[in-house]
Amino acid sequence: MRQAGRSLPEYFGVRGEGTILDAIRDPDRATEITLQPIRRYDVDAAILFSDIITPVWATGFGIDITPGLGPECERPFRTADDLKRLPMFDPETALDFQTTTVKELVSELEVPLIGFAGAPFTLAAYLVEGRPSKNHDKVKSLMISDPKLWDQLCERLADIAIATLRAQVDAGASAIQLFDSWAGTLHPDHYRRFVAPHSERIMAAFTDVPRFHFGVNTGELLDQMADVGADVVGVDWRTPLATARERTGGKVALQGNLDPTLCLAGWEAVKPEVRRILADNAGHPGHIFNLGHGVLPDIDPDVLARVVDLVHAEGTARG
Ligand code: CP3
Repeated sequence: MRQAGRSLPEYFGVRGEGTILDAIRDPDRATEITLQPIRRYDVDAAILFSDIITPVWATGFGIDITPGLGPECERPFRTADDLKRLPMFDPETALDFQTTTVKELVSELEVPLIGFAGAPFTLAAYLVEGRPSKNHDKVKSLMISDPKLWDQLCERLADIAIATLRAQVDAGASAIQLFDSWAGTLHPDHYRRFVAPHSERIMAAFTDVPRFHFGVNTGELLDQMADVGADVVGVDWRTPLATARERTGGKVALQGNLDPTLCLAGWEAVKPEVRRILADNAGHPGHIFNLGHGVLPDIDPDVLARVVDLVHAEGTARG
């Protein structure tokens, strides 16, 4: 359940004012925030408290996360000159706080810790647009009009993702999740040419741990997202699990796919939806129940706790 903190009062008790990156780079706070949802919910894994922006922020590119809005850049990425503002870094020094947090967590957690990074397309979307975008027009036009610069940018972002993920795995993370949240904005041919090769290179560097690959609005891309080398593919609520399984040829496990907005409708409305998803999966092995996207700020944590309990009671065995 990504961004679970947004709906937890105890999160705002320790997060502090200002940018979320201040809490992320403080290992004690980041450890505590990672553990908070684990104390509340009987979930089967934890996800590191960080953000897809953290490694790009560590390069000194000039990016921050505005509360209530998301990542914003002072000067968006536009020309080859901007590559200089995105230098490769040594995660041992630039992301030492993250390594400390992962080690602390692994020593305290009884469930596996999932490490993560942003995929090149989704990170590029923030860097080129400069802020969250509805149409992703600037990033798509850079991709189409200057494929050479596009590949250079994505190669750098893939190197950054590999470095941060390797540091998390070396520190004890049990699995990795590559977030390509906004890839669903692309035509499948454009995904194949401009996105898949870069994500594939990242996945190929992690044959030692289970690899999750996540996006929203990716119904038409699920086959390719599985083929880049994922073991688990995230499915949002627009695509029934049975359809997703057909599209991925049964080669990968599926993660999803409760529509988070439905959780705002109260437990009695959510209960049949949870059961419908379990029925869609039809007892098939290789289903990780999850929301189809992140937790919304107004979701009642008690509804989420009941979702977890119902899945454990009525889903097939936990593994
Ligand atoms: O689940 C977790 O809490 C683990 C840590 C985590 C965060 N962000 C913390 C966070 C993870 C895994 C992410 C991933 C992330 N961040 C993604 C990919 C997954 C997805 O949901 O699509 C993306 C696209 C981002 C970028 C980002 N960061 C956005 C769009 C926002 C929302 C802005 C807002 O306030 O609504 C953030 C902020 C953010 N990252 C919060 C949290 C807990 C929100 C609360 C806060 O600012 O303190």
